[in-house]
Amino acid sequence: MIGPLLAVTDLEVAYGRVEAVRGVSLEVAKSEFVAVIGSNGAGKSSTMKAVSGVLQPRGGSIRFKGQEVTGQPAHAMVRRGLAMVPEGRRVFADQSVEDNLLLGGYARSQESAARVQRLERAYQLFPRLGERRTQQAGSLSGGEQQMLAIARGLQSEPDLLVIDELSLGLAPKILDMLFPVLVELNEEGLAILLVEQLAGQALAISSRAYVLENGHVIASGPSAELARDARVMEAYLGRRTTASSAA
Ligand SMILES: Nc1ncnc2c1ncn2[C@@H]1O[C@H](COP(=O)(O)OP(=O)(O)OP(=O)(O)O)[C@@H](O)[C@H]1O
Ligand SMILES: [Mg+2]
Repeated sequence: MIGPLLAVTDLEVAYGRVEAVRGVSLEVAKSEFVAVIGSNGAGKSSTMKAVSGVLQPRGGSIRFKGQEVTGQPAHAMVRRGLAMVPEGRRVFADQSVEDNLLLGGYARSQESAARVQRLERAYQLFPRLGERRTQQAGSLSGGEQQMLAIARGLQSEPDLLVIDELSLGLAPKILDMLFPVLVELNEEGLAILLVEQLAGQALAISSRAYVLENGHVIASGPSAELARDARVMEAYLGRRTTASSAA
């Protein structure tokens, strides 16, 4: 593969007359950890939905592993190696933890040894899921559901994991556990594209970041530099750099 793992160019997403994304370009290199931050309604989720094939962009192009994939449906993107953890988790509430995980692996080998190996890896990353493998996903806490949503995404053995709002509604002590897991996965070679409202934490664990505002990228660069950029931190994110909600 030549070039970046993911290359988004001049992406446009619209809902009728609402132009949510107005020419966003971003890249993720192989094994890179990239954050996307920005205020409510900036177009972060719309960008991620287009990238993961959940919705059709109105314009622009998306290339993954060097191939044009614009407009490909989500299941095709999963097979290509891009898994999405959607905003709000969206676990199958009436299915068990283990069935949620097995569903996440549908695009990969269904040979029993491979399935068991993927499950064991999930339970090793998140022992709380292992302890609750027969429990209905809907009965898990918010933090456990987020663990399940991440673990489900990993079952498809992705090269890029897209996560939309990891911290939403979760207590700081859960996040203290979840953020290091992402770092560990990234160190093992998984590329991560993380949308996160806790800008300070997202910039602390990512290597590069993009700031979205009003459907545009208004700043991008090394995360450490953006974290020192007073304009970025104060104008757009000053109120959102610490966790305040409870799980
Ligand atoms: N299904 C939809 N129908 C109409 N407008 C939508 C829809 N989804 C999003 N929008 C609008 O598109 C714009 C971008 O929304 P989007 O959800 O992408 O932003 P976001 O950056 O993810 O925001 P948040 O931080 O609240 O998650 C907003 O103005 C939003 O109201
Ligand atoms: Mg969103």
